[in-house]
Amino acid sequence: MITEPTFDSVRLTTPRLVLREIEESDTGSLRSYWSDPEVTRYMPNGVVSEKGIRDLVQRALAGRGSKPRRYFRFAVTLKESGALVGDCVCRVTDPESREDLARIIGQAYIGYFLSKASWGKGYATEVGRALLSFGFEQLKLLRIWAWCDTENSASVRVLEKLGLRREAHFRKSVMVQGNWHDCFVYGILRDEWDVAAEV
Ligand SMILES: CC(C)(COP(=O)(O)OP(=O)(O)OC[C@H]1O[C@@H](n2cnc3c(N)ncnc32)[C@H](O)[C@@H]1OP(=O)(O)O)[C@@H](O)C(=O)NCCC(=O)NCCS
Repeated sequence: MITEPTFDSVRLTTPRLVLREIEESDTGSLRSYWSDPEVTRYMPNGVVSEKGIRDLVQRALAGRGSKPRRYFRFAVTLKESGALVGDCVCRVTDPESREDLARIIGQAYIGYFLSKASWGKGYATEVGRALLSFGFEQLKLLRIWAWCDTENSASVRVLEKLGLRREAHFRKSVMVQGNWHDCFVYGILRDEWDVAAEV
């Protein structure tokens, strides 16, 4: 059974990071890496416009205010300095929505996006662990999934380090900046997470 989350304000901590709710004042920090072509290399729409950043922030705020709450977009900040180094998302599928194709793939989707200066430090793996723990332990989900471009090797590696299983390879399924790309779908079930968490 899918729970109906009603979380007003969420704050998740990892050894080095704090994942907190996005505020309007984060717009500038978000812009600094969402406008970087290297960060958005595997994103369907590429670099995000000024309006796109404002929409992202508004969607985060609207998600926070909605009940039941299904959309969680967090700022990824350094515990020590508070600096914003990325953002991440957990979107719970609306089981009633016939239009939501994600309903077929699983209960909740996760994703993470970091500024280039923060790559290669293990942060995405910490973010992913925090999102899985939040999804399974607080939202009581049974299944969480993620997708990535098959060429996005760093993201593939993160998902595999997190214990997600590659469940599908969809060929030429995502339009990435004008070209059809292959994508992988990864998934993990709650009992698999429990096992992974104990290791
Ligand atoms: C994907 C991304 C989140 C990874 O963040 P990160 O903090 O560098 O990830 P981590 O340090 O936790 O782990 C990365 C792993 O990938 C490996 N890796 C990095 N680049 C790689 C490459 N080109 N090929 C193979 N492995 C690679 C690293 O060595 C590390 O594995 P290891 O711990 O076994 O050494 C980051 O690159 C990013 O934000 N990219 C842009 C946005 C994006 O693509 N998000 C994912 C959407 S699906």
